[in-house]
Amino acid sequence: MKTTLLGLAQEAEVDARIINNINGNWHVEQGPIEDFDRLCKGKWTLLVQGVDKYIQDVSPILAPFSFIPNWRLDDLMVSFATEGAGVGAHIDQYDVFLVQGKGKRRWRVGMPGEYKETFPHPKLRQIEGFDAVIDVVVEPGDVVYVPPGWPHDGETVEDSLTYSVGYRAPDNLQLAESLAMMLDKGEHNFRYTDPQRTLQNAAYTVTPNDVASLKQQLIEAINSEGFTRSLLEAMSEQGIPEYPLDTDVSLEQIANEFAAGISFAPAAGVRALVSYGKQGLPRALFVNGSQFEFANSDREWIEALASGDVLNATSCQDAPSFTFLETLTTLINNGYWEWYEA
Ligand code: SIN
Ligand code: CO
Repeated sequence: MKTTLLGLAQEAEVDARIINNINGNWHVEQGPIEDFDRLCKGKWTLLVQGVDKYIQDVSPILAPFSFIPNWRLDDLMVSFATEGAGVGAHIDQYDVFLVQGKGKRRWRVGMPGEYKETFPHPKLRQIEGFDAVIDVVVEPGDVVYVPPGWPHDGETVEDSLTYSVGYRAPDNLQLAESLAMMLDKGEHNFRYTDPQRTLQNAAYTVTPNDVASLKQQLIEAINSEGFTRSLLEAMSEQGIPEYPLDTDVSLEQIANEFAAGISFAPAAGVRALVSYGKQGLPRALFVNGSQFEFANSDREWIEALASGDVLNATSCQDAPSFTFLETLTTLINNGYWEWYEA
């Protein structure tokens, strides 16, 4: 794994950092990293974000967390740290499960509160210190859960691999971006009118009614089906780069291969979402921001696809429909599903 991380850190599209501490001086180097000899000095940590999107083999690490819905899962960050290393005491805004992969590490976790932020390096946000309510040395297989806002600090006891299963929680600004996305498409972008307006005494007065109707205009946009879809698209967005096939495969080819028993599987890190056409939600499959509607009769196939398992003609009892194979073909052409090699 360490070699894999070093390899990933050299790639321009990968979000990687090396944080080191030499005689009390912190240094942060953002990837792509070339000069490992210079950076892997002192107490150092290499952190690679989104490893699940590059390395298929790490998916078993995420499997035990399937009790939490796909849309909440952000990514798997993996870090390698040498004896005595760590990134210092800090606070994250997201839920994280810290899974110890190799070596030993001492984790200290404190209660949420007011802590003074420090920047020992412009790219390193830490806090001054905290009283630990959890103080443990973890070994391979141990998991520490850190909720958002809880300060924590992990000091490596012996060369360590830590898998951070990170969750996302959209803030209102992000939700508003989904709203803007829908309005931008011209959907539900209604304009204020006031045909019922009555005379008022002074022109400078803003009435509570005026403000309430402006708010109501926005509330109606939020309650629209368009916003629901826009939200679902954003919830399924994983920032997975589209690697479309050089030459598109045809629906006929996929249908023939499927009938011949060839298997398909999601590309690394692809996690689909399904909504079932109930209580205002569309009946659709969502993959990395794209949506595919499906008929109720295709439900079993859509579920087999979205489960992330290997998919072939034996996955369901009935034969797949034309529409289902069309969806699969699009997913393959966009690089989200691939031919499965055992
Ligand atoms: C690490 O893996 O070194 C840091 C993870 C974290 O504290 O969020
Ligand atoms: Co953290």
